[in-house]
Amino acid sequence: MLYDPLGREFHYLRLSVTDVCNFKCSYCLPDGYQCETPRNFLTVPEIRRLVSAFGATGTSKVRITGGEPGLRKDLPEIIKTCANTSGIEQVALTTNGFNLEKNIQSWVEAGLTSLNVSIDSLKPEVFRRITGFDRLQSIFAGLAKAAELGLSQIKVNAVLMQTFNADELSSFLQWIKDKPYTLRFIELMETGDNKAFYQQNHVSGYAIKQHLLNNGWLPVLKAKNAGPAEEFYHPNYQGKIGLIMPYSPDFCKTCNRLRVSALGKLHLCLFGEQGYDLRQLLTSDQQQAELQQYIQACLSDKKDSHFLHQGNTGITQHLAMIGG
Ligand code: 5AD
Ligand code: SF4
Repeated sequence: MLYDPLGREFHYLRLSVTDVCNFKCSYCLPDGYQCETPRNFLTVPEIRRLVSAFGATGTSKVRITGGEPGLRKDLPEIIKTCANTSGIEQVALTTNGFNLEKNIQSWVEAGLTSLNVSIDSLKPEVFRRITGFDRLQSIFAGLAKAAELGLSQIKVNAVLMQTFNADELSSFLQWIKDKPYTLRFIELMETGDNKAFYQQNHVSGYAIKQHLLNNGWLPVLKAKNAGPAEEFYHPNYQGKIGLIMPYSPDFCKTCNRLRVSALGKLHLCLFGEQGYDLRQLLTSDQQQAELQQYIQACLSDKKDSHFLHQGNTGITQHLAMIGG
């Protein structure tokens, strides 16, 4: 098992497979993805070696993220590679959903076990203003298809934003009354690029937490290895609510994840450092032992917190760089 100096154990890998995204989310890539040079993202054999090393050192869950992973033509092959790796029990995907309806079947057939889709507004027009795409109805259809295909873990992410969706809490709650989704409200995080937007739009999740607790929602007891989200259920609702509050003081105490960027750099935190280059250890199957040792050695540098509350955004210009 991989562990750090604070005794946190890491069984969850978030693997970005591309920085490229076609959406223009106001808080992330308001001007769209800017491609300066052709990017040479991890190949399927490199991903196989990387995930094998993590699987052999206690990682049981891989989340494939981006940018937008659905832009990679070989995504089914990537999912299959992760699903077939020894030790990996769960393969999750985070997507903006633009080609969900069309591709979900091939992803599930490849071995996908859970799905996260971003929906920041239930109003088609507001959704279009946030993302640049009039895609909400197709995403709803894709989610329904995912449930029909038997995918049992479906999560929807909504970033809380004062000027876009702060008035939608009751519609969001109503929406999951008869849907088996976990809807996660994420507090907007400040990144290098979104300072003014952040100042205008950051809303704390505490008011939502109070609203839930005052209205019959009950906290889901956290499993020992659960991550930073706080979850709530309600006897009259099929869906659950999750709250992700990165500015709360204990957020980093339950950190259980490591990140690898699409260029093969290990990041110990979303708001961390330049990243530790793993790529030279992904060129042959003979390097597995060395790769595992290197990853464990990097972990001795992991800090106790992201220091976001002090305005530190590290090198993170926007989350498309590293996959949220
Ligand atoms: N703050 C909070 N959430 C963000 N995401 C992207 N950028 C930010 C930000 N600055 C979210 C996306 C997606 C998830 C991967 O991260 O909306 O749901
Ligand atoms: Fe793309 Fe996700 Fe960034 Fe939106 S938040 S622009 S979907 S990477």
